[in-house]
Amino acid sequence: MSELRHLLDTTDLTLDEIDEMIKLSLDIIDNKEKYAHICDGKKLATLFFEPSTRTRLSFEAAMYELGGNVLGFSEAASSSAAKGESVSDTIRMVSCYADIIAMRHPLEGAPRVGSYKSLVPIINAGDGGHAHPTQTLTDLLTIYREKGSFDNLTVGLCGDLKFGRTVHSLIKAMSRYKGVKFVLISPKELSVPEYIIKDVLNPCGAEYKETESMDEVMSELDILYMTRIQRERFYSEDEYLKHKDAFILSADKLETAKSDLTIMHPLPRVNEISTDVDDDSRAKYFVQALNGKYIRMALIITLLKWGGLL
Ligand code: CP
Repeated sequence: MSELRHLLDTTDLTLDEIDEMIKLSLDIIDNKEKYAHICDGKKLATLFFEPSTRTRLSFEAAMYELGGNVLGFSEAASSSAAKGESVSDTIRMVSCYADIIAMRHPLEGAPRVGSYKSLVPIINAGDGGHAHPTQTLTDLLTIYREKGSFDNLTVGLCGDLKFGRTVHSLIKAMSRYKGVKFVLISPKELSVPEYIIKDVLNPCGAEYKETESMDEVMSELDILYMTRIQRERFYSEDEYLKHKDAFILSADKLETAKSDLTIMHPLPRVNEISTDVDDDSRAKYFVQALNGKYIRMALIITLLKWGGLL
């Protein structure tokens, strides 16, 4: 039986459903021709009210590689939002024109509001500082391809843990696996929001520690997930300037790191990973961006199938 489902947060998916989506991505990677026409005649709308390179273009590349087509906009100024149209009305309209919608918006919860009026699946492609579930699926596929499992990993998350929505989504996802430990590396002012500790980490009994020193914990980590200081979400430029160079990963900082450390970053980077790290075999952030296209192909297929649209 078909069911219209949206992806608004990572926890909308069960662990079994995530497993299935990862398996489907791996099959797509190995058998691209098998999927080249699966979405013939289908349309994806990409509604980006905030800037993006990877998420929007990887969604578009994903749909084209599945045989489908794409319509949409890449800034609010070129849509009727500029004339005052509500998110709800925009989604109601676009869901008459497209079979599936990926949407990014600066307001937390905007994709959820859109989903109430949508006739087709809505994918949250990032809402304010809240969540970025398709980045998390990208991260999970990357971790799975590198480590073969999610259990018993020590995951270091470094940088702007307050405003970084990718971090919030990844913690929510990884805390559902067995024996995962979190090392939260940030200036005190940019530590994870309290709800992440109270509503996510504590209820599942996940082990975590907070620190301001990357050097002290480097040798413990299986994954190092670097993040950008989110300039656009600071209330004052002075506050941003105070923190902008808080953590810079350079090749010399990796001296004590494990030989099989996986270095990740959702990108874009500013200066928090020096380019001298890029050639280190442990640096996986560009592969991670490529994985984003494959997992989004799997997600489009899955949501269309669940909705009886494929
Ligand atoms: N990782 C990510 O969301 O990148 P973009 O902002 O370029 O989409």
